[in-house]
Amino acid sequence: MLDIRIEKTTAPKAKPTDESKLGFGQIFTDHMALIDWNSDEGWHDARIVPFGNFSMHPAATCLHYGSEIFEGLKAYRRADGVVQLFRPEENARRMINSAERLCLPQLPEEDFLNIVKTLVRLDEDWVPHSFGTSLYIRPFMFGNDETLGVHAVHNAVFAVICGPVGSYYKEGINPVGIMIEDKDVRAVRGGTGYAKCGGNYAASNRAGERAEKQGYSQVLWLDGVERKYIEEVGAMNVMFKIGGVVVTPALTGSILPGVTRKSCIEVLKQAGYPVEERLLSVDELERAMDEGTLEEAWGCGTAAVVSPIGKLAYKDKTFVVNNGEIGPVTQMLYDTLTGIQWGRIEDKFGWTTPV
Ligand code: PLP
Ligand code: COI
Repeated sequence: MLDIRIEKTTAPKAKPTDESKLGFGQIFTDHMALIDWNSDEGWHDARIVPFGNFSMHPAATCLHYGSEIFEGLKAYRRADGVVQLFRPEENARRMINSAERLCLPQLPEEDFLNIVKTLVRLDEDWVPHSFGTSLYIRPFMFGNDETLGVHAVHNAVFAVICGPVGSYYKEGINPVGIMIEDKDVRAVRGGTGYAKCGGNYAASNRAGERAEKQGYSQVLWLDGVERKYIEEVGAMNVMFKIGGVVVTPALTGSILPGVTRKSCIEVLKQAGYPVEERLLSVDELERAMDEGTLEEAWGCGTAAVVSPIGKLAYKDKTFVVNNGEIGPVTQMLYDTLTGIQWGRIEDKFGWTTPV
């Protein structure tokens, strides 16, 4: 495992005082982690340094050809003060899969976990105290060759930044409105949909802007080939309760395999709900809405936690789900996951790791 050099800041910043106004991704802690890689030496010079700007060569690969991947996980403060992570090894493994797809170097799981924990321990005072707030951790990696040739990179940087966050949507736990996108597509099978790379998000922005202008929080993507099957939302996987059965799109390669999705499926199965991971066409969903068998819909993701969907728009139709209210299964998942994450209920799954 790599040794980590620590250089502490001499100018610590003031921490936010009002935890009800944290928002998402606007405040950063005092330190950041960095590890360099090149094809001759491999991973080296793991270090934690004061948070600050990067200086890069204008030809750096990531600036031109999108060689960039990232992760998102959180540290939660329990009532007893202990700070814990939720399934961080899942993020470490997904980053390895993303790196493989983008031809970036693969950081061993143990180094990922060690540097994330070391950084969170150093900036532990930044982990907020109120239920529903957390420290969002953003590991990322970019190709850093100083040449314009298009090829797998010979130089890369792995970095971790973090900051205190509240809820991702302004709605909080209140239901959000989602627009089903029938023009742009996010990803195709064989492409990079299953990888967490910046390019997937760049491709999403145009539809996201259109949805926002019409008053919707995010876009629900259809598959990139037939524009027929439900895939996922901009920053969440999706689940629908149709006629008593929870249906969620199967991991076909164009969807991000969410840690929250996986956890929801495990919680649901353990609670005895039938869960189907399969193709779900927008026609089937429309029929369920028309016939009144769509009982609940929600999105799930690290930033968004479990977010009820109260309104779905498709072409010129708008459907209200469960009277625009949070349904009992959505509430159960929210209570169970947040209960485990903030240490309010026993973690029978063994998902949490104290830093
Ligand atoms: N889908 C997309 C496109 C995302 O950006 C995210 C957020 O990370 C998710 C799904 C949910 O993944 P996870 O639960 O691992 O955060
Ligand atoms: C996350 O939930 O970690 C995400 O990646 C969402 C993000 C794109 C803001």
